[in-house]
Amino acid sequence: MRKVFKMLALLIAATMLFVSCGKKEEAATTESGEKKVVIKLSTKFVQDEQTSKSLVRVAEKIKERSNGSVEIQVYSGGQLPIGKDSMEQVANNANWISVDGLNFIGDYVPDFNAINGPMLYKNFDEYLAMTQSDLVKKLKSKAGEKGIKVLSLDYLFGFRSMLTDKVIKTPADLKGLKIRVPNSQLYMYTLEAMGANPTPLPFTEVYSGIQQGVVDGLEGSLMTIYGTKIYEVRKNISLTNHLLGVSAVSISKTVWEGLSENQRTIIQEEFDAGAKYNNDVTVELQTEYKVKLEESGVKFNEVYLPSFNAETAKVFSKFPKWTPGIYDEIQKELKAIRAK
Ligand code: G3P
Repeated sequence: MRKVFKMLALLIAATMLFVSCGKKEEAATTESGEKKVVIKLSTKFVQDEQTSKSLVRVAEKIKERSNGSVEIQVYSGGQLPIGKDSMEQVANNANWISVDGLNFIGDYVPDFNAINGPMLYKNFDEYLAMTQSDLVKKLKSKAGEKGIKVLSLDYLFGFRSMLTDKVIKTPADLKGLKIRVPNSQLYMYTLEAMGANPTPLPFTEVYSGIQQGVVDGLEGSLMTIYGTKIYEVRKNISLTNHLLGVSAVSISKTVWEGLSENQRTIIQEEFDAGAKYNNDVTVELQTEYKVKLEESGVKFNEVYLPSFNAETAKVFSKFPKWTPGIYDEIQKELKAIRAK
């Protein structure tokens, strides 16, 4: 009798184990049998900025198309590590997508800084053609060798100009002004060349930094200036258009290769489509935001561009880690793009 009880108990235990294993399986896979993956996406952009909105839209589309097998959780406004720290998560193979400046991939493949150098592009299309060039394809594959899969380089948020109280026309006008820049060597050298005292500061500290006199102003795009409400504390935009504000989307190559082919296709297609959507909306919003900024008392002025161009050209010889001749290669590509 005892033996029967023992066998019965064993049978019940085995059945329970089987059922619980099944449940575990259920939680980790979707109806279509694909392994479910949750990926955190970290971005500096606040919720009200278009890039954040576009990324939320991409995440929704990916979830829908993958029947829930890929869930991308978007964390905006620097709720999670951003910049260098965010790229480290990617490099350390976390389930993580980093959306930030190209300069942070530039920490791994320095030439990424060069293609986002000062005064290179006349419009969005020139830059978008550059990211399709063989030159940039080579850089992407170098990033792959460092364990970084670049999903997109195409999330534009506009040319960056000066937001100060002083009207800036030439580099001499920037002399002595402390201008907030992102924590990036490229931005430091560019603003230095333009005549300013560049001061790296996380964007979340810029509003109070201006109020407390830590910085006199900043450089940024209309999307940033309007979207973050930073125009409330400075009222003059000098149109230097010195750097193009653009974000790269990166994921760990190991994480990427661990996804099914179907999941990879969906993610890639949706980030591509999302960039196109983001850029189209951005073009429209820039015009709208200019009017809104003017209504809020912000004044715009043209600058004497040749004087800034002459100074910023020096930046391209400042990076010992850039591939020799990269500036000439970029110029060659640009010439071909403009000839089309
Ligand atoms: O929300 C801030 C974003 O619009 C710009 O950030 O660091 O590139 O100036 P940053």
